[in-house]
Amino acid sequence: MSNAFFLYGNSSSTLANEVSASLGMRGLKFETKVFPDGESYVRIPDLPGAERVFVMNSLYPNQDKRIIETLLVCEALREANVDNVTLVLPYLAYARQDRIFLKGEPVSAKAIGSAFRYAGVTKAYVVEAHSDEAIRAFGGDVSNISVDESLIAAIKSLIRTPDLIVAPDEKASKRVKIIADAIGAESVYFSKRRDRITGEVSSELNTSIELTGKRAVIVDDIISTGGSVATASRTLLEKGVHSVRALCIHALMVQGAEELLAKNGVQEIYGSNTIDTNFTRYSVASEVSNALEKLLK
Ligand code: R5P
Repeated sequence: MSNAFFLYGNSSSTLANEVSASLGMRGLKFETKVFPDGESYVRIPDLPGAERVFVMNSLYPNQDKRIIETLLVCEALREANVDNVTLVLPYLAYARQDRIFLKGEPVSAKAIGSAFRYAGVTKAYVVEAHSDEAIRAFGGDVSNISVDESLIAAIKSLIRTPDLIVAPDEKASKRVKIIADAIGAESVYFSKRRDRITGEVSSELNTSIELTGKRAVIVDDIISTGGSVATASRTLLEKGVHSVRALCIHALMVQGAEELLAKNGVQEIYGSNTIDTNFTRYSVASEVSNALEKLLK
């Protein structure tokens, strides 16, 4: 498709610049402002003859604001008569409420997906949505972009040759095995339980492997409060592991996560550029570019 444009917001500058460059497109930043009463304002640039527009905006930090400004951009594109709006969400907020855990709750990921479709999004990509359920709940023509290759590359370049790749819960165990096999390390996983009311995490290590002296990397999709990784790190160190590092895709790092992880022996935290933070240490641009490139052929 010849007349395609690439728009992006404040929260995704680094990734947007890398991806648009790799697609041979010029990334255009949409304008944002906040009115004195707190409401959001956006303005898109001129997109002469646009047939397809990519809109990239990470829905973090300030999730609710990011959602509203992205919806407003979609509405502006509708006004500009753009028929193909491809939404690219490096981080999908509300994905962890991907089902009803307690009576009376909504499936939040469903509400977010419906809102974007209603605003005119024809196709959506999410980088490593929290779960398959979140993608299903989001609904419509949506694809998850898996970044296992970037995780493997990040370990090789940033951590080099760890002995042990650790999943803090069963959900992460499949990914961790793939990564461990690719770099020639061993893998183990924890069974994790989270109290739905208090958020407190308890976990148990499932392995008979000897851990003494091993250099471990805990790999998770999200580090939020740090509770999951901190609990895993404490157990690993108690079992004689030599050192613990943490690698994640989306480093939300809320409520003193950095201090909690340090207190529990995590030496380094590496996050990707799905969210621009002090913890951003590697890029997922190659997988995102590969996915979007297919639409330009
Ligand atoms: C949960 O299923 C996710 O994969 C992460 O383990 C979780 O979101 C991390 O949250 P926290 O850092 O608050 O433990």
